[in-house]
Amino acid sequence: MDAYRRANRLKWDELVDHHVGAESYGVDALRRGERRLHPIEEGEIGDVAGLDVLHLQCHFGVDSLILAQRGARVTGLDFSPRAIETARALAEELGLPGTFVEGDLYAAPDLIDGPFDLVFTTWGTICWLPDLPVWAGTAAHFLKPGGRFYFADAHPMARVWDPGKEAAALPFGTLRTSDPYFGATEPFAYEDDGDYASDARTVSTRTYEWAHSVSDIVNAVSGAGLTFEFLHEHAEIAWQLLPILVPTAGSQYGWPEGFAPALPLSLSFMARKPG
Ligand SMILES: C[S@@+](CC[C@H](N)C(=O)[O-])C[C@H]1O[C@@H](n2cnc3c(N)ncnc32)[C@H](O)[C@@H]1O
Repeated sequence: MDAYRRANRLKWDELVDHHVGAESYGVDALRRGERRLHPIEEGEIGDVAGLDVLHLQCHFGVDSLILAQRGARVTGLDFSPRAIETARALAEELGLPGTFVEGDLYAAPDLIDGPFDLVFTTWGTICWLPDLPVWAGTAAHFLKPGGRFYFADAHPMARVWDPGKEAAALPFGTLRTSDPYFGATEPFAYEDDGDYASDARTVSTRTYEWAHSVSDIVNAVSGAGLTFEFLHEHAEIAWQLLPILVPTAGSQYGWPEGFAPALPLSLSFMARKPG
């Protein structure tokens, strides 16, 4: 693993304990069996009962365990030891079958036996990955013939807007760019002791993220031999990516009423392995 991903792992390891108590992760609702995915995925993944599901970058397993509650046999992978430890403890506490594997996404074929009916990965995943062709190839590797790869995440165009505090003070309807749209080999370095899901401050502050354009994503998935069933763009997203966004139904966020122009905030697709 390179120094970039080692730094990212330190930050993610630290965030886990803060997220277990964070409202947006809904662990108490999960315990009551009432936790749902966001409306975007709920409307797109269909019935998972009886499916073998691989959840890539599963964090501490909330979404994995929602799928397990619906009858899926879930394997979750994440490179944060604390996340995997917590996911295993939650699965045990809830009496749910779930296998949780600690490891880097790019090492997954050496760590996990497949195949799976569904590879599932959502919200805040590919920005941590340098190489999308290998990512999509990893998903394809794990799929049974006819199996499906589901993805939902920030729209690459939504990531160019300046999320800074001053941006929030701009006149209504104004957006300012901060990051370039097109990806580069080298990641962007960020310095931030905050947490998107709680008020916690972290000791690890340096993270590295990679930009990927829409064509990077589409070409990686097609290049891995998968066929798109749909690709959707949404004017809503699963977290408050920008201060101007407002809560909408089902814990999603969207543009405030009257905000023009309404721009894409997230993107989702389902792609199938032929056979
Ligand atoms: C925003 S979270 C994933 C979102 C998940 N849907 C959630 O909110 O519960 C990103 C996850 O990716 C994991 N991650 C980042 N880089 C990774 C890598 N190279 N290999 C495996 N996991 C990685 C982090 O540990 C973190 O748990």
